[in-house]
Amino acid sequence: MDKQTLTITDNRTGKQYTVPIESGTIRAMELRKIKVSDDDFGLVSYDPAFMNTASCRSKITFIDGDKGILRYRGYPIEQLAERSNYLEVAFLILNGELPTKSELAEWSWHITHHTFIHENIKKFVDGFHHDAHTMGMLVGTIGALSTFYPDAKSIHDADSRQKQIYRLIGKVPTIAAFAYRHSTGMPYAYPDNDLSYPGNFLNMMFKMTEVKYQPNPVLERALHVLFILHADHEQNCSTNAMRSIGSSQADPFSAVAGAAAALYGPLHGGANEEVLRMLTEIGSKEKVPEYVKRVKAGEFRLMGFGHRVYKNYDPRARIIKRVASEVFEVTGKNPLLEIALELERIALEDDYFVSRKLYPNVDFYSGIIYQAMRFPVEMFPVLFAIPRTSGWIAQWQEMLLDPEQKIARPRQIYEGPDRRDFVPMEKR
Ligand code: CMC
Repeated sequence: MDKQTLTITDNRTGKQYTVPIESGTIRAMELRKIKVSDDDFGLVSYDPAFMNTASCRSKITFIDGDKGILRYRGYPIEQLAERSNYLEVAFLILNGELPTKSELAEWSWHITHHTFIHENIKKFVDGFHHDAHTMGMLVGTIGALSTFYPDAKSIHDADSRQKQIYRLIGKVPTIAAFAYRHSTGMPYAYPDNDLSYPGNFLNMMFKMTEVKYQPNPVLERALHVLFILHADHEQNCSTNAMRSIGSSQADPFSAVAGAAAALYGPLHGGANEEVLRMLTEIGSKEKVPEYVKRVKAGEFRLMGFGHRVYKNYDPRARIIKRVASEVFEVTGKNPLLEIALELERIALEDDYFVSRKLYPNVDFYSGIIYQAMRFPVEMFPVLFAIPRTSGWIAQWQEMLLDPEQKIARPRQIYEGPDRRDFVPMEKR
């Protein structure tokens, strides 16, 4: 018998089935052959929250959660963070290989020349309330972009897809910065094509009266690294949303808006914002043990801790911790760092966290850096969405080009009432 198979005995019928094992998986559709009678629908697997279901084949990101390994297209995240820059990594994620010098120049030129947004989008941003959350503005405005680019519907046309990729990577930081400027009542600062991708973002965020904004090189480099670390993370909640929306053949602007909405939640990209609120609420190093006690009692979760996939230290958190010290040399130390370090120290010695393999994740230290760089907390999930855009579209394109993929449509176990007749209003 082929050893790469699984033999299942259905004890209801006594029948045996041999199911092939490929890449450590069995195809769920094989289970449908397991029936008690000819008119039986067949066995279905039940996996709420996709705890143990591979929904696609992917060549983009590799994670070994037990060992704390993260690689994009085979390259270790540590090497990319040390030696690459964000646009180079975005090219790698989307195209599978590092760009040559001329490819990088051309790629950067295209992204840079798609940073401007239609003036009507400004009016659109103006329409938001002064205290609208910047992530809400980002989600809404990216969705609105789809109405400006009806050609984006041509998702099977490679040239059109490439154009939307330039537009999305180019325009998302502009919308993000405009949302911030709107929330502070500041005039919008237009993109500066002479600057790097993060340098231009800092320009659009913080430019005041100076004729030419010069980003601080340490902060600019820190943002490159943070953007690289956030660029992709295989089949997480927002990427799954991106693929799911894209599978209906919606245009990529609508799909990215949906993915960004999934990222907004506090268990995903909204966690960095929650970490800052948590550290502020704790207030001092001395109050950490009391806070940890309340977490263990189940009152709330320790934000920035734990991960569905990593059961070891998140490799991104390790790099971010290093970046933090470089940033603080320029900005001065964020006083919340002391509380965060104490929280990490206590949690990593505590059996509750050790036995559940709960370690700091990417969101634990990123907010402390962002705050030191003068980003308000509402911008933290936005700062996650900007670089993740390249990952979302890479995953979307991979899904579109995968002949095995179809519209995403899970099954359910129906537990509602059996057939019953309509009850007139007077009899209810
Ligand atoms: N604080 C305290 N307990 C926790 C935490 C936490 N942050 N995370 C998980 N646990 C406990 C949980 O209560 C459960 O305990 P028990 O077995 O006694 O019921 C156990 O650990 C397993 O938790 P789970 O909810 O089954 O794990 P999950 O894989 O469904 O959740 C998670 C993963 C990231 C949603 C979760 O760890 C969490 O809520 N963390 C806090 C939010 C956060 O930092 N999110 C950012 C994730 S990284 C960046 C990103 O992907 O956006």
